[in-house]
Amino acid sequence: EPEVIRDKAAMRAWSRSRRAEGKTVVLVPTMGFLHDGHLSLVSAAAAVAGPVAVVVSIYVNPSQFAPTEDLATYPSDLAGDLRKLASTGAVHAVFNPPDLYVRGSAGSGASGGAVSCLEAVAAGGDGHETWVRVERLEKGLCGASRPVFFRGVATVVAKLFNVVEPDVAVFGKKDYQQWRLICRMVRDLDFAIEIIGSEIVREADGLAMSSRNVHLSHEEREKALSISRSLVNARTAALNGNNAAKQIKNQIVHTLTEAGGRVDYVEIVEQESLAPVEMIDRPVVICVAAWFGKVRLLDNIEICTR
Ligand code: PAJ
Repeated sequence: EPEVIRDKAAMRAWSRSRRAEGKTVVLVPTMGFLHDGHLSLVSAAAAVAGPVAVVVSIYVNPSQFAPTEDLATYPSDLAGDLRKLASTGAVHAVFNPPDLYVRGSAGSGASGGAVSCLEAVAAGGDGHETWVRVERLEKGLCGASRPVFFRGVATVVAKLFNVVEPDVAVFGKKDYQQWRLICRMVRDLDFAIEIIGSEIVREADGLAMSSRNVHLSHEEREKALSISRSLVNARTAALNGNNAAKQIKNQIVHTLTEAGGRVDYVEIVEQESLAPVEMIDRPVVICVAAWFGKVRLLDNIEICTR
């Protein structure tokens, strides 16, 4: 059974005492409602060389949701999450703070749910006013339709890094831009933390696992398979020499639209800089965000033509 820690100071003390025992502290940040994608990050954490102490954080970060987004309906199941994490046998602590932003009693009490915290964050003042921004990487792809998202992600991850003080942190490539942006933040701000990018875990039919998939109707879920299918087809086309980015993008947009999806973006970008390319002649990733019903889904595929 992993130990559940709610208090920041207790979390930091736990982590420091594990390190004093010679363990490598590995953090897996999540927002809970865990699925096999999250559990694959736990496996990657457990596989880090030498003796490890694995911490999974579960915290629905209000500052990465815009007021119009789904903070209020973001799914949660702490008891189920703890059961899943216990069943891996690989997790030593779960960090589940009631609130990461407000200091004092509000920070350690049981009240002060996500929505009231969002208000505190939005209001600034005694809530919170310092932000981490990765200025170029935060703008493209998901940043275009979610302008405050990556500011919230970078800030909460920096806070988690400062509270947990991990040696290593694991992120999924499912959220490709998020992973690259965190790598960049670590480099630019000299966090002494190694970042591991872990492969996308998919359902048997190809749909990338996501906590938000529970909100898809049966019919929407079928239609959403067009995302992974169109990405695999695009990859095959590119490897066969049809490497004009524009044509490939158009094909994907066509497939998703025909399936009843509403495309947010389809972009073909360099793997590290996330700069758009015209030809697929270097390592790229095709990134997609599309709405099926009320659910915005993300997926991507890496392509190395050489
Ligand atoms: P969340 O969406 O819960 O995801 C937590 C981690 O699990 C992220 O690194 C994400 O990329 C990874 N993940 C999700 N689905 C995956 C899949 N199908 N395959 C592989 N990895 C997957 O991402 C966040 O939370 C938040 O933005 C967070 C980083 C915790 C900051 O609040």
